Amino acid sequence: MKRLYSVRMRAERGRAHISGAEGIFEENDIGRTVLAYVGRALRHSKGAPDTLKLKVELIRRPPAFISALPVFTLKTRGPADARKKAAGLLARAGVSGRAVKKAFGILSTGGMRGAALIDSEGGGRLEPDKTRGVRASMLGISKGAMRRLTAALSQKNLDHPRVKDALVLASKVAAGPGIAAELCISDDPDYTTGYVAIPALGYIRLPHIKKRGGLEGGRVFFMTKAVAAAHLIRYLEETPVMVGKISEIGDIITLHGLEAPHNHHKPGGKKILHKKD
Ligand code: COA
Ligand code: AMP
Repeated sequence: MKRLYSVRMRAERGRAHISGAEGIFEENDIGRTVLAYVGRALRHSKGAPDTLKLKVELIRRPPAFISALPVFTLKTRGPADARKKAAGLLARAGVSGRAVKKAFGILSTGGMRGAALIDSEGGGRLEPDKTRGVRASMLGISKGAMRRLTAALSQKNLDHPRVKDALVLASKVAAGPGIAAELCISDDPDYTTGYVAIPALGYIRLPHIKKRGGLEGGRVFFMTKAVAAAHLIRYLEETPVMVGKISEIGDIITLHGLEAPHNHHKPGGKKILHKKD
């Protein structure tokens, strides 16, 4: 097998994080990836960075291959409706009302450097550093899967690096040990579509979850206490995972349209597929 590298970029202004991107690539794709990341960082909607940092790191163990979550978009009427629907979806994933309330409190404060890790039943925080949170990293998508994802998203007018990056991240997170669900609201004031990701349901986009111009946002990973938080954190931050297959890119639907659970992400209850694309 060819050698694979994790390529990671982050852009800052002063000490503030402006943007980040990462992927897993073969050696001959590193150059064009770096160029693309630099271009993206310099044209970010949060403004120009003063520092751009790039890391290229050899991946020393073969990545695990997973399927992307299927993608759906829920019809929402505004922030209150979108948040109510997010809460309904999270309840379906077994997340308690208390944990949902805690999550929305964290997202309305914002300012974290990663995701909050919350006990899906009791609502307690499980990560060691509550200002930093935990970050999903060491992730990517194969060239073939990226080609098919671009084509499928284009058909629904959703082909944007932000959607692709978030889907790859959410798919790695959903395949993690103990993960019940993820809730995300971007902290970008211009981006008002959030999502809930649930392993057996999919990546469910929630337009209008915040008002344009809002500075709040962040991510919350809900996990069951049956798994040790340290085990999940090691997986999220260190285990190389690549999306090798894509799933359905669905239409705009109502909550009823989500009735049938999608189980292709964890077939047979397995967390991770090892079969390459
Ligand atoms: N937000 C805010 N600060 C961040 C950050 C983020 N997303 N990622 C890194 N930083 C800052 C922090 O200060 C961090 O120090 P800390 O660990 O004490 O918090 C410091 O940079 C170094 O972080 P490190 O993990 O060493 O960075 P890295 O170069 O290995 O990876 C990223 C940086 C941005 C590529 C990675 O963190 C990431 O977010 N990857 C996912 C990117 C992606 O696809 N996002 C999709 C979202 S739609
Ligand atoms: P964004 O989707 O880039 O607008 O990020 C929204 C929020 O997600 C940020 O404010 C962070 O709290 C969190 N976040 C960003 N990157 C990661 C990551 N790699 N893993 C977990 N959480 C992240």
